[in-house]
Amino acid sequence: MNKNELFLKYNFAKKMLETEISILMEEFVFLHGYNPVEHIKSRIKSEASIIKKLEKKGYEKTLANITKIPDIIGIRIVVSFLTDIYDVVATIKKSKNLIVKKQKNYVENPKDTGYLSYHLIVAVPIYLAGKTEYVDAEIQIRTIAMDFWATLDHKIQYKFSNEIPKEIKEQMYENSLIIRELDERMLKLNEAVNSYIKE
Ligand code: GTP
Ligand code: MG
Repeated sequence: MNKNELFLKYNFAKKMLETEISILMEEFVFLHGYNPVEHIKSRIKSEASIIKKLEKKGYEKTLANITKIPDIIGIRIVVSFLTDIYDVVATIKKSKNLIVKKQKNYVENPKDTGYLSYHLIVAVPIYLAGKTEYVDAEIQIRTIAMDFWATLDHKIQYKFSNEIPKEIKEQMYENSLIIRELDERMLKLNEAVNSYIKE
């Protein structure tokens, strides 16, 4: 396997995953008459980030080691409300094409930083030269409020090449508590809105 072949596979897997997710979400709208998705973004990790990650994990810089990184392909599904996260996760788990290998519920159990999201590691099938192969990908599912926090947190992290000052970390953690509360308030409000509409 050479580098071009590996990245061709990642490219195919990204397209397969994008298509599968978009079909699953269209089917969800058809079945429930409601679209939980605000937006979807996908990416292939840049070579510079892959090298950084190999260094962080203490892996030698080989192509074989790149395949041990499960999030070379990433897709982020940003939804409106808290409960939408679980609907989307359940929908993905029912997919006949994706194999869920791992899940991390950082909505129920936020990271120490305050980070909130639901992560799935899935195996995506690709068809190359008459053979089926599987490529890992990371799916992040979060609300727009969680996405707001995570996006700004990511920007802050980039501004510090060293350790982030303690008071900045603490403030970001406190802000994450506000995000959690806001998501719960918005969910309740939406339930109230829906009960008005039913009347
Ligand atoms: P990595 O080695 O960083 O991938 O961590 P991990 O193997 O423990 O995986 P995890 O599921 O915890 O996190 C993977 C991804 O989640 C990261 O690449 C980020 O996109 C996101 N993430 C995790 N923690 C944070 C955080 O504190 N802030 C932000 N903004 N994103 C985070
Ligand atoms: Mg990662």
